[in-house]
Amino acid sequence: MGHGRDAVVYDLGDGSVLRRYRVDYDHSNEVAALRHLHAQGFPVPRLIAGEADGRDMIFERIDGPTMLREMMRRPWLAGRYARQLADLHRRLHAITAPSGLRELGREGDGADDRTVLHMDLHPDNVLLSPNGPVVIDWSNASAGPAGLDIAQTVVIMTVAEVGTIPWALRPAVWLMRRVFLRAFRAAAHVDPAPHYAEVCRARLRDPNLLPVELRRINELLARA
Ligand SMILES: Nc1ncnc2c1ncn2[C@@H]1O[C@H](COP(=O)(O)OP(=O)(O)O)[C@@H](O)[C@H]1O
Ligand SMILES: [Mg+2]
Repeated sequence: MGHGRDAVVYDLGDGSVLRRYRVDYDHSNEVAALRHLHAQGFPVPRLIAGEADGRDMIFERIDGPTMLREMMRRPWLAGRYARQLADLHRRLHAITAPSGLRELGREGDGADDRTVLHMDLHPDNVLLSPNGPVVIDWSNASAGPAGLDIAQTVVIMTVAEVGTIPWALRPAVWLMRRVFLRAFRAAAHVDPAPHYAEVCRARLRDPNLLPVELRRINELLARA
């Protein structure tokens, strides 16, 4: 069904999907986040199996396209999708982090500011189901200040290269991204600005970074 840098996802045909990491991986952090979010009523796929260490997790299959796919099909709705994504951030950041989740952010951030963070919450990790949007891909879930999550989304959408898109379509896609980003920042419930530098520095450590992405991150860093 999909494959990213870290995992491959298979449809098991019985209403569930298998997410297999490329390497053995301790997903207790992801499991802790998913359990807590499910209990709090946040829209995540139900975890069917994946307790132990290993490479596999089995989830309830969510029917519906990703927000990214829908937006590519109907780019004039970019502003509306941006507000929907900002709303998902707002709902997520209303949830206090459970103990045991990976911690991010600086020392001295108030304890009350430590909400659940997704840390990869962009339109390719939102499935638009008939019952509303569902957020997937919680492998980076953490506890920390909400602005960090917003900053991460802005930086990803500002710098990530759109590899598989034909050249002829790229100007239109960049325009859509700009509209999306402007609406997303305007609708965001907290200010991401204090976190841009930290997020950029963390992205510089990504070994899969393309030269053009490196250049864009350094431009952002110079302004942060
Ligand atoms: N619970 C699910 N239900 C339906 N499709 C899923 C589900 N989880 C993942 N997918 C599909 O697999 C793709 C990749 O999943 P994701 O968890 O985002 O992994 P990654 O981005 O690391 O490859 C998604 O874009 C989606 O198409
Ligand atoms: Mg993903």
